[in-house]
Amino acid sequence: MEKMIVSASILAADFTKLGDQVAQAEEGGADWIHVDVMDGHFVPNISMGPFIIETCRRISRLPIEAHLMIDNPADFAGTFAKAGADYVTVHIENNPNIHRILQSITEAGSHPAVVLNPGTPPSAIESVVKMVDLVLVMTVNPGFGGQKFIPEMVNKISQIREMLKAIGSTALIQIDGGVSAETIPAAYHAGARVFVAGTSIFNHPQGISAGIQTLRDSTG
Ligand code: DX5
Ligand code: ZN
Repeated sequence: MEKMIVSASILAADFTKLGDQVAQAEEGGADWIHVDVMDGHFVPNISMGPFIIETCRRISRLPIEAHLMIDNPADFAGTFAKAGADYVTVHIENNPNIHRILQSITEAGSHPAVVLNPGTPPSAIESVVKMVDLVLVMTVNPGFGGQKFIPEMVNKISQIREMLKAIGSTALIQIDGGVSAETIPAAYHAGARVFVAGTSIFNHPQGISAGIQTLRDSTG
């Protein structure tokens, strides 16, 4: 079985003890830390900025991803790379100069990644897919944790897998939103290898470590 990567989304963490929660995720076997950046414009919520990336960088050795759900991402992508994000993920929907921004992320020394909302067709990323190390398929409409996985996205994962295969890309396919032991198997089978999870890790009744293990066990 090809390895799955579990990325813990700290949006669902208890921020009164963020350091402890990140440490627990790391000890519990999380592979990456996922930081959701929301500006109240691109999505109807406001969350974290570069300061939280810097904070996570100081307390963890794990790769950190900055998922930018913001207007004018070109103004901030470099800032997030400098703050310590290993992956900087930008949406295709609001990005008139997407090639330039992906290039700037690479130049800043981070991995460039592109993300599609549930309503955006795979064809939207055709012209940039060669430039990215990761494609994020949103499995909910972005903005909030704890939403329900949209099952139609499984077919989109398969289509993107074919697109990547056709050009010989080794970019990873990631999903984000409603990820749980119930929703992972179909997405894994379709080609997703990186699983962002907030609620099912940080709100697991038996704790963070059990949450991560439950996700790992789900592919059999
Ligand atoms: C949603 C965010 C997600 C969110 C996922 O806009 O991009 O990363 O934290 O939360 P869960 O795992 O609770 O669906
Ligand atoms: Zn996210």
